[in-house]
Amino acid sequence: AHCAIGCQASLATNYMETSAVADLDWENLGFGLVQTDFMYIAKCGPDGNFSKGEMVPFGPIELSPSAGVLNYGQGLFEGLKAYRKTDGSILLFRPEENAIRMRNGAERMCMPAPTLEQFVDAVKQTVLANKRWVPPTGKGSLYIRPLLMGSGAVLGLAPAPEYTFMIFVSPVGNYFKEGLAPINLIIEENFHRAAPGGTGGVKTIGNYASVLKAQRIAKQKGYSDVLYLDAVHKKYLEEVSSCNIFIVKVEERLVSVDELLEADEVFCTGTAVVVSPVGSITYLGQRVEYGNQGVGVVCQQLYTSLTSLQMGHVDDCMGWTVEL
Ligand code: COI
Repeated sequence: AHCAIGCQASLATNYMETSAVADLDWENLGFGLVQTDFMYIAKCGPDGNFSKGEMVPFGPIELSPSAGVLNYGQGLFEGLKAYRKTDGSILLFRPEENAIRMRNGAERMCMPAPTLEQFVDAVKQTVLANKRWVPPTGKGSLYIRPLLMGSGAVLGLAPAPEYTFMIFVSPVGNYFKEGLAPINLIIEENFHRAAPGGTGGVKTIGNYASVLKAQRIAKQKGYSDVLYLDAVHKKYLEEVSSCNIFIVKVEERLVSVDELLEADEVFCTGTAVVVSPVGSITYLGQRVEYGNQGVGVVCQQLYTSLTSLQMGHVDDCMGWTVEL
């Protein structure tokens, strides 16, 4: 970590100044990086224990050209959101679940992971240090991006000898430019996101790099994103590049593409996209439309229930929100 004593002092000063909301065009937030004030950083050496961690000004980090993450993709990311309530307080949504998912992913990628307590504490610290970037109620959320990476130097293929756990944040609005209007997806038959025995089940950075080409092809054709089918049968739905897919009404089981084409309603979910209706899916040149280009009943209900809970507009009987 490259934080000097001076930066800790300015951090303390800033904590006191962060009651005001930052000067930003809150009406036109998309899902692009807006640089904020501080980021969290903690390191872990060969003993497997992470340092206490500190808040440093947001900016570039120093990495060896032979860092494990740069050469062999030994890295994971997470994503969660903080919302501002009408009374000005800030709510996190199920941060422990992200900590658990990062630990599971770390196990698969041969990396040490922060404890659940350190993860949640680091998220809270980072949000509080950047409090002025949490959008006003109803204008969006503060997207929180935890990263875990093999930052130690390697040459031969092996787990890195040192790891970095970081968190940065950015205010965000809608992920898709359509907002809550339906999006159009395409199934690109020749691209797959995951294969049996691979890393599709964890949030490793390489899973996302590998879908960029399919996503670019789809966008060039005018689609919002790609829906992937399983790599073995080329028949069952997996997920979209940036989110999950639901069709109404499904059980949690394999869903074939034939069933998808018969569905009454289709929508995507994810931290970034929230709940996003699908207006059409194109498969083997055939376009199937859903919901008369409107938002389906189930999609609208879920969107309202989820965001009302996240913004503290309704009572949290599940104990899913964490107030800062
Ligand atoms: C998520 O919302 O789960 C994501 O991973 C979104 C990210 C690809 C921007």
